[in-house]
Amino acid sequence: MAISIAVPREVSAGERRVALVPDVVKALTKAGRLVAVEAGAGLAAGYPDEVYAAAGATVDTDRTHLFESAQIVLKVQPPNAEEIAAMAPGTVVVAVMNASRNLDLVARMRDAKLTAFALELVPRITRAQSMDVLSSQATVAGYRAALIGAELTPKFLPMLTTAAGTIRPAKVLILGAGVAGLMSIATARRLGAIVEGYDVRRAAGEQVRSLGAKFLELQINAEGTGGYARELTDEEKKQESAMVAKAVADADIVITTAAIPGRRAPILVRDEMVARMRPGSVIVDLAAETGGNCELTKPGETIVAHGVTIAGPLNLPSQSAFHASQMFAKNLQSFLDLLVTKDGALVTDYSDEILAASLLVANGEVRHQPTAELLAGGKK
Ligand SMILES: NC(=O)c1ccc[n+]([C@@H]2O[C@H](COP(=O)([O-])OP(=O)(O)OC[C@H]3O[C@@H](n4cnc5c(N)ncnc54)[C@H](O)[C@@H]3O)[C@@H](O)[C@H]2O)c1
Repeated sequence: MAISIAVPREVSAGERRVALVPDVVKALTKAGRLVAVEAGAGLAAGYPDEVYAAAGATVDTDRTHLFESAQIVLKVQPPNAEEIAAMAPGTVVVAVMNASRNLDLVARMRDAKLTAFALELVPRITRAQSMDVLSSQATVAGYRAALIGAELTPKFLPMLTTAAGTIRPAKVLILGAGVAGLMSIATARRLGAIVEGYDVRRAAGEQVRSLGAKFLELQINAEGTGGYARELTDEEKKQESAMVAKAVADADIVITTAAIPGRRAPILVRDEMVARMRPGSVIVDLAAETGGNCELTKPGETIVAHGVTIAGPLNLPSQSAFHASQMFAKNLQSFLDLLVTKDGALVTDYSDEILAASLLVANGEVRHQPTAELLAGGKK
């Protein structure tokens, strides 16, 4: 029997993405997998049911049937309580679980004896690059952030020489030059702005400069383990703050993307720095979901403080759902190559480094240690 894969419609508020797109379904069905897609699953992302059907998927109108008959369920957002209850014990569910923020759902998946893989836990090793949803979705978020900045500023981004006078280009400052920040830099440059970038990892400097932007240098290198940033010392934070304050005051648009894995986002833009910005300036805080890089950010809202517009958008990848889903689906296709053998059987040995690291729940047990500890602390 061929292995059966289900793709439900995402039901979380504001989620427009879908886990698999028709092109990837086509490749999977060609390889002998059975793919069932819930009716309407791809509609909000621009993929109608007929295109899935043409790619070889079964389009299922019965949600409960879809969940209970699948061996593998692929999702963008973690499954909700009703979806977990609909799955048979032993079903493998793969999604971005954001486990530390969804402990109740992790406990439910454990009790339902599901096998859950969390895509955000896939290690960032070279072999796993094609499965890296953090990178693919951050690319989309960085692009959207630059567009939001361009939309909210009352200025042009490019330099213009017109009969009505010369327009100076806007200044865009990007704080945090990881995957999202670099995409914001590239997008703001393409729109013609003068761009500056800053990151605590010195290695980011070369990447920022290669995109035609200026890199703000601080005599600090806070590169921690695995290529991520470490937290700064108090003295380092002071130096950073003085330099950032000056750059922020000078910018028309500030896009912040700074993050430290597993922690609240560092606060880089304080109230008094916002007060020193020119009226009409804009801050787009990509870290809103994890607390914000600006002290005044309200997650999910756009506010005005000291005459500065501060946007704290949530789930930006969903705003470019067509391409975000295409990239997400490609990531899942690569992940499935590890999870399903060439002859279409489910792998049961999870000793592969990538599977072992991303395995969240199996056989009624939470297998990801930090999440297990959080659950034990909260006695769930
Ligand atoms: N497979 C791979 O090898 C792989 C895949 C993806 C990313 N990476 C690397 O991992 C690194 C981080 O990627 P990410 O975008 O997911 O990071 P992230 O989302 O965790 O953080 C965003 C950026 O914020 C920066 N930051 C943290 N604290 C800061 C502060 N106080 N001030 C300014 N900036 C601050 C970080 O250095 C990072 O560049 C990058 O070097 C990236 O190239 C490697």
